[in-house]
Amino acid sequence: MLSEQSVPVVEATLPAVGASLNTITEAFYRRLFEERPELLRDLFNRTNQATGTQRQALAGAVAAFATLLVERPAERPDAILSRIAHKHVSLGITADQYPLVGRHLMGAVGEVLGEAVTPEVAAAWEEVYWLMANALIAAEARLYAGAGVAEGDVWRPMEVTARTREADDAVSLVLRRTDGLPTRPFLPGQYVGVRVQLPDGARQIRQYSLSAAPDRKTWRITVKRETGAEGAVPDGEVSTWLHDNARVGDVLDVSLPAGDLALPDGDSPLVLASAGIGITPVLGMLDHLARTSSRRPVTVIHAARSPRHHAHREEQAELVGRLPGAELHLWYEQDAHEAAHPAARTGRADLAHLTPDPASTAYLCGPLPFMRAVRGQLLAKGLHPSAVHYEVFGPDLWQSR
Ligand SMILES: Cc1cc2nc3c(=O)[nH]c(=O)nc-3n(C[C@H](O)[C@H](O)[C@H](O)COP(=O)(O)OP(=O)(O)OC[C@H]3O[C@@H](n4cnc5c(N)ncnc54)[C@H](O)[C@@H]3O)c2cc1C
Ligand code: HEM
Repeated sequence: MLSEQSVPVVEATLPAVGASLNTITEAFYRRLFEERPELLRDLFNRTNQATGTQRQALAGAVAAFATLLVERPAERPDAILSRIAHKHVSLGITADQYPLVGRHLMGAVGEVLGEAVTPEVAAAWEEVYWLMANALIAAEARLYAGAGVAEGDVWRPMEVTARTREADDAVSLVLRRTDGLPTRPFLPGQYVGVRVQLPDGARQIRQYSLSAAPDRKTWRITVKRETGAEGAVPDGEVSTWLHDNARVGDVLDVSLPAGDLALPDGDSPLVLASAGIGITPVLGMLDHLARTSSRRPVTVIHAARSPRHHAHREEQAELVGRLPGAELHLWYEQDAHEAAHPAARTGRADLAHLTPDPASTAYLCGPLPFMRAVRGQLLAKGLHPSAVHYEVFGPDLWQSR
């Protein structure tokens, strides 16, 4: 809760700060990395910095949080903070890093807004920062405690025990602990961080959803090779490195499972909708449902460029076949006939003829335009907005647009 004296100040300055947030977060990262270049090299995703998506996600989150504070102060900010806390924990962020970030964020506010930032304004926004920071620190402490690890101690060596081509542009890697113990539990839908050392010495981290059920002795991730546009856009750094270098017997740095898109047990109906490589968390969920002999009604929707680009195509159909309450609907932009599946259609996902139970909980994963379209169609079919959950394979820009 904001203090009495800060509420009117934040209310009055929110339009100006909100309008400049993208410039403020840009200045923030510039200041942060000037002082601590190793954070850009070894902790932050440097491609997200180059494309500006991370500063948009940060701006979106700060704006949403500040708006909530002044407009609906009784509401808990969990929905805004949960995704960030999980991401932070998967990176091993610690409470002692927050003062550094706060100092540079406040410095950036002063730099961009200049004289408008009176001591009163600065104090009110510093309060916003620390309300957000403390809520994140507390949520992250709970996640570390829940995993039974010391704060920040999330990285473990994992050996690659199998590597399988799952589509024209995707490979799966099966991972086991190097100490021979069973892998840690996780919830279907969660992801791990993978940290690799690139040829220029930088250590870069990316997240990969666990694409098989939790109760196995190993974990599995499935990585799509991200190719850029020749000459104009570079290839994806970590996915290209993993495709070119990760072999059976290699040891990778992998962080503990995290993520708030997770399938709770129960018997309520489900909609699992994915596009492209967004199939990975859905596969973990389907594998879990099949291994627990679930009888839940499940509407499974997947969209892909073509059957050749549909990772784990046969496995997905086989898992759906093992679930008595599940039906599969597939859309391919081209070559749908190659799927040789009665549910395969040509075109983009269109739910017009589907009749999911309006009491369903939905989990969506794929590009934002796909998720926006599917969400709209599900709401039109009577699903409650609070029952539609989603995962974005990059900084979450849903809130910032
Ligand atoms: C929660 C979560 C779960 C995920 N699960 C999976 C998963 O299961 N499987 C999976 O394959 N991925 C998954 N991802 C995505 C994954 O983390 C990586 O983002 C992905 O592998 C690309 O990383 P990269 O290092 O190869 O590409 P990056 O180097 O990060 O580049 C990303 C994209 O930007 C392009 N690019 C590079 N530089 C520029 C530039 N200057 N301007 C414009 N574009 C540029 C690249 O060509 C590439 O397409 C997940 C992400 C999240 C957040
Ligand atoms: C109140 C303070 C903070 C806020 C509001 C905040 C907000 C965010 C947001 C919105 C994201 C993107 C989440 C997503 O959609 O994937 C993120 C990611 C991240 N945060 Fe924070 N954060 C804070 C503090 C910190 C601190 C103290 C650190 C440590 C240096 C840190 C390091 C990171 C890193 C490394 C990422 C991933 C970046 C990427 O993958 O591009 N954050 N944070």
